Amino acid sequence: MRLTVIGTGYVGAVHAACMAETGHEVLGVDVDEERVAALAAGHPPFHEPGLSAMLQRTVAAGTLRFTTSLEEAARFADTHFVCVGTPQRPDSGAADLRHVEAVVDGLAPGLREGALVVGKSTVPVGTADRLAPRLAVSGAEIAWNPEFLREGSAVQDTLRPERIVAGVRSAGAEARLRAVYAPLTAAGAPFVVTDTVTAELVKVASNSFLATKISFINAMAEICDVMGADVLTLAEAMGRDSRIGPAFLSPGLGFGGSCLPKDIRAFAARAEEIGRGESVAFLRQVDEINARQRRRTVDLAERFTGGSFEDRDVAVLGAAFKPGSDDVRDSPALAVAEEVRRRGARVRVHDPEAIDNARAVYPELQYALDVTKACEQADVVLHLTEWPQYRELDPAALAGVVRAPALVDARNTLDPQAWRAAGWRLGAPGRPRLG
Ligand code: UDX
Ligand code: UDX
Repeated sequence: MRLTVIGTGYVGAVHAACMAETGHEVLGVDVDEERVAALAAGHPPFHEPGLSAMLQRTVAAGTLRFTTSLEEAARFADTHFVCVGTPQRPDSGAADLRHVEAVVDGLAPGLREGALVVGKSTVPVGTADRLAPRLAVSGAEIAWNPEFLREGSAVQDTLRPERIVAGVRSAGAEARLRAVYAPLTAAGAPFVVTDTVTAELVKVASNSFLATKISFINAMAEICDVMGADVLTLAEAMGRDSRIGPAFLSPGLGFGGSCLPKDIRAFAARAEEIGRGESVAFLRQVDEINARQRRRTVDLAERFTGGSFEDRDVAVLGAAFKPGSDDVRDSPALAVAEEVRRRGARVRVHDPEAIDNARAVYPELQYALDVTKACEQADVVLHLTEWPQYRELDPAALAGVVRAPALVDARNTLDPQAWRAAGWRLGAPGRPRLG
């Protein structure tokens, strides 16, 4: 089939490449000329395992092309996926839909009778219904098909999804989406058909649930800190209950990234709009608990620097919002690093992938290309993004480099015995007995 994918950010670039890989003829569209040129040369503008090779393969095979023209897109295919961003509005928690609307309005006049515009962007419940009439004038239809990919495993998540959700307004739209995803459903992906409102809701409800799970265990970490309990053991024992499960129960610095924070705020704002604010009022607390973990980490670090960061050297391990990604959007690690700098410390940040992106957002932090350099003469080392390579560090060697061997493991993934044996003082959220 011929498809277009409009908006080639994280979601769109991966979707476009994966659709071409599964046998479709795909045109990727983006307003950003530089991005289009880079993608056409097989270079994704971000780090995502497997994506570069797949882009190069499909571009070379001629099944994937890129353009900046929406008119060309409207002519090229009858099925269009909309993957533009839906950022948080600067003045409120609500989602900014201007990019989605610009694409729908830009496509509409050129669409052929029977065209299907499929939203993948995360939108407030009811958006598809609101936009449908703008397409109906051209005889085109709207559908919603949310994505659930995680950065770092986006290609696998797209090719082997745990579910495909098709929110449709007609049997024809369902048939079209079944055809698009036939290679994935043949390999076992479950296909859930529903209306567009439910489809939109599946996405925001899922992300809200994940955020709630993380904040739940972080709230427990706060209780552990007061009572002398151990949150890692608590999480492990809770997670062994198959009704609870271990995923998204890792306590620490909390969630960031381009999705969970903005999605829970947008959902809370949307619920207010439809008169059901109270139904998801707990999401405000989920957000507050999450913000508090950043402050708690700063406070924990300050205890190791004698109660003040003034004129201290602080090493930060990790800048990406999570390991396996170079994305620093709403990164908890960088928020902590910046706050420590603001309070007077010299902060040196290491990250295996995200330094360039971090520098663009926080030019006043210092950056180091290796961990030893970052830790030189440090008064405290903060472990803020749990890259696997940090678990391989030699605590004894690093102890010889820092000014004072003190470590805050805000992600709870380093081996406390090994670090303590090498002479380090330790601090970690929810594990008051470590220190
Ligand atoms: C996606 C979703 O679409 C968003 O709703 C979801 O919540 C998170 O994932 P993402 O892929 O991360 O967003 O967005 P981003 O990396 O910002 O990419 C958006 C792309 O759309 C950019 O390349 C931008 O240039 C492009 N764009 C934007 C257009 O092509 N046209 C526009 O009108 C606006
Ligand atoms: C998320 C959703 O998982 C995905 O389905 C959706 O499509 C987009 O948003 P992503 O933002 O890539 O994906 O990251 P995710 O793996 O969900 O992690 C989000 C944040 O939560 C990260 O900052 C991570 O460090 C944090 N996290 C995750 C925890 O603090 N504890 C956990 O147990 C799990």
